[in-house]
Amino acid sequence: MGQPDIDLSIDQEPVPKAHWCRMKAVIAAMFMVLVGAALGVGMTIMIMSLENEDVDCQTACPASTDSGSYTACWKPMLEINEYGFPFLQQHVATFLQNATDSMLAMSSLPPMGRVSPPAYDYAADAREVARVMSTIVTQAQKDEVKFFDSKLDVALAIIGTLLLGYGLPIEEIVLHSIGETSAVHDAGIAMWKSKLLHSRIRPTSVVQRLFPDETLTINDGVEILGKRFQALLRVMPHSEFPSGSSCMCQAIDEYITDLWPALSLHSMGAPVTFDAEVTHVVLPNPSMASVPLTGTANPAAEGYTSRTLNERCGESRLEGGMHFNASVPAGRELCSGIGAKAAQTTKLLAPLPAASSATLRSVIASTPPCAADCCADSAPCTQAEQAACASNCTGAWSLPWFDVVDVRVKAFGLPDREIATSTAAPFFQADRNHLVVVGLFGAVVPAIQRHETISFSSGSRTRLTIWFGIRLQQIRRHSWH
Ligand SMILES: *[C@@H]1O[C@H](CO)[C@@H](O)[C@H](O)[C@H]1NC(C)=O
Ligand SMILES: *[C@@H]1O[C@H](CO)[C@@H](O)[C@H](O)[C@H]1NC(C)=O
Ligand SMILES: *[C@@H]1O[C@H](CO)[C@@H](O)[C@H](O)[C@H]1NC(C)=O
Repeated sequence: MGQPDIDLSIDQEPVPKAHWCRMKAVIAAMFMVLVGAALGVGMTIMIMSLENEDVDCQTACPASTDSGSYTACWKPMLEINEYGFPFLQQHVATFLQNATDSMLAMSSLPPMGRVSPPAYDYAADAREVARVMSTIVTQAQKDEVKFFDSKLDVALAIIGTLLLGYGLPIEEIVLHSIGETSAVHDAGIAMWKSKLLHSRIRPTSVVQRLFPDETLTINDGVEILGKRFQALLRVMPHSEFPSGSSCMCQAIDEYITDLWPALSLHSMGAPVTFDAEVTHVVLPNPSMASVPLTGTANPAAEGYTSRTLNERCGESRLEGGMHFNASVPAGRELCSGIGAKAAQTTKLLAPLPAASSATLRSVIASTPPCAADCCADSAPCTQAEQAACASNCTGAWSLPWFDVVDVRVKAFGLPDREIATSTAAPFFQADRNHLVVVGLFGAVVPAIQRHETISFSSGSRTRLTIWFGIRLQQIRRHSWH
């Protein structure tokens, strides 16, 4: 049997301009997604792969004034897994006490002397922790503490809002995302360095040591002996001062405040002027019940503005019992400036021609996906009609055609095609470019969630991962015809 004839010649036709634009934009979008994801994953891998040493804190933290029997140094906590296996924490990423500007993506380290722990009165402060926890009695309150614990959920809720709330094209969403990831990354290094320099004990350790046999009331009216005290959520293996969440959310607030005025936000076809005090950066939960890709409950009945997100992100750490109250404003103060710098740098990635009316959208947006409106109604098309749509998407750089409405239904868990196409619900705004990139995000989310140091809650992302797998198969089959 002879070799089959294989045509290896390269198509010599020039690439049509529209295709070229689309290719540039799609490649740029993919690149930005991957860089954004790599920054996040890279940081966690870097942190996980370095050897953990004991934190040498004897010079940094004073002896307690309460009992003299312990110092205010951070103490490893005992944890227990679901199977009754106890283990002792080690402080993460101790090498970051020597972090330098070169480790940051878009900004520089704030002066570490900017914040220092107050003279804690640990007995009073620990009782205050339990008192604040005891105000947490509803599922909605607990959902909020959990939501802000996971910066991945915060990031994805904001991305979901850009898509569903403001119909932003994928290029602008990804530009937002790369800068937001960098802002959180840089804030994370700054706050870890500060935590290591101060090495302060967590409320859990203080309560257990100071009031072992005293009954305390915590969340849900639970009464518990001090020696059995636990925070509402897992306390991460790093020291207490300052609050990492309040630092990161300060960075997110500043970043959004400075970047979003450059984005082409629209609602119901009309442009939206960004106002940090009133513009939702996370949609109210009737419009977006759960966080895209992770499925975590969106706790915001009224939605969040960048200001209320910053506020609640910090305050919820106290409600969860993870911090003493001075750490929250200190985290914000330490990290102020990082988000603004990230926004400034991000805008340079897509420079607007000076003195022209060009918008960010016109500079970075691609042409729409081919046959974007083909079979995109609530009534499903026949196989033959779908094949006709697909046959219009066979250009060298065309994104293979797929039934965008069907994929919207699957990706957002919608009941039917009516809702997926109704302009009264927000889902009609997800075009094929969005869905492909959302699929890419879906593929990296499980990898990010496997890393412990940045606390990601695991949720039901299976649907999208499966969807992405099927999609990839179809795209491959289509391309290799
Ligand atoms: C940090 O730097 C100091 C002095 O430069 C050095 O002695 C110490 O070992 C470094 N610590 C870590 C954890 O790398
Ligand atoms: C912080 O806790 C102390 C008690 O330790 C309390 O007196 C103070 O009012 C609290 N501050 C805030 C801002 O809640
Ligand atoms: C395919 O493209 C042609 C030319 O743009 C257009 O006239 C036709 O309506 C398209 N077919 C479908 C099914 O969209």
